[in-house]
Amino acid sequence: MVRSSVETDSALEGAARILAGLLESRTGQALTEARAWRMETALRPVLRQHGLADIDALVSRLTRKGDAALEQAVVDALLNNESSFFRDFQIFDMIQRQVLPHIRTQRKDRVLRIWSAGCSTGQEAYSLAILLRNKWPEWAGWRIEILATDISAHAVDQARSGIFSQMDVQRGLAVGDLIKWFEPHGDNWQANSHLRRMIDFRQDNLFDPTAPAGTYDLILCRNVLLYFNRERRQAVLNLIARHSHEGSILLMGAGETLIGQGEEFVAHAEFRGGYVRQSPASAPPLGLARRAF
Ligand SMILES: C[S@@+](CC[C@H](N)C(=O)[O-])C[C@H]1O[C@@H](n2cnc3c(N)ncnc32)[C@H](O)[C@@H]1O
Repeated sequence: MVRSSVETDSALEGAARILAGLLESRTGQALTEARAWRMETALRPVLRQHGLADIDALVSRLTRKGDAALEQAVVDALLNNESSFFRDFQIFDMIQRQVLPHIRTQRKDRVLRIWSAGCSTGQEAYSLAILLRNKWPEWAGWRIEILATDISAHAVDQARSGIFSQMDVQRGLAVGDLIKWFEPHGDNWQANSHLRRMIDFRQDNLFDPTAPAGTYDLILCRNVLLYFNRERRQAVLNLIARHSHEGSILLMGAGETLIGQGEEFVAHAEFRGGYVRQSPASAPPLGLARRAF
């Protein structure tokens, strides 16, 4: 029988610790106490799929022989993929009203590059695509690239499919946008091809990155750094700094702050909660391929 709490069972505490260690070494994410409590629920589908009786059996399988697919499934199941369309609506309102018009005046070459880092199941990237599509005439003649990356293979597959449940679309998506940009797909909804072809979804680890190339005008790394320790947070910020140019805008999650963390980004004077890239010293010129790091 699957035991019910990591607190009350010492064997499970040990197993939970090993799984938390696996998650942290692969992703940098520390398992919060709240998620440790939900570990069994989160892992239940993995246990079922692999015919394992409980978490002890899972850990024993993982430690006995290397099973990369099983490890990936465990990591995927333990990650917090919580997301929603237009999450923290004020931020998207600011992107629409201030950030995108600002970038439009800056980029004389009419290229807009956005990176959603830690995109989960894609709602953040689709929300950006919807903002742009809703103002399409203003972007006529622009080359728009949206890169969306996440370590979770499962989340990225779902994001790429553009398929969302009724419950997903009810979380943050206006009815007008649903009708305009999504099509019924069985009991679900699928982002239409106009949206889907705007976004390049890639599975990528922020600690072993291969997807980002060159620099981005707007980077969203929201509700991702939250679970990293200070050192890991700095490593991700260094990565983001290398893929930004002077004036690039970085947006974090509501309540997340960069105070006391690095000097490349400073709070933007006008974009509330936004940060702007300062020195171009370590940034490669626009459009250049990714440097080796
Ligand atoms: C809570 S979700 C946030 C999704 C979206 N940014 C939002 O705010 O709605 C955090 C995401 O970060 C991803 N993540 C965690 N560690 C990562 C890593 N090392 N590299 C890339 N993505 C990571 C998780 O898989 C998860 O999908």
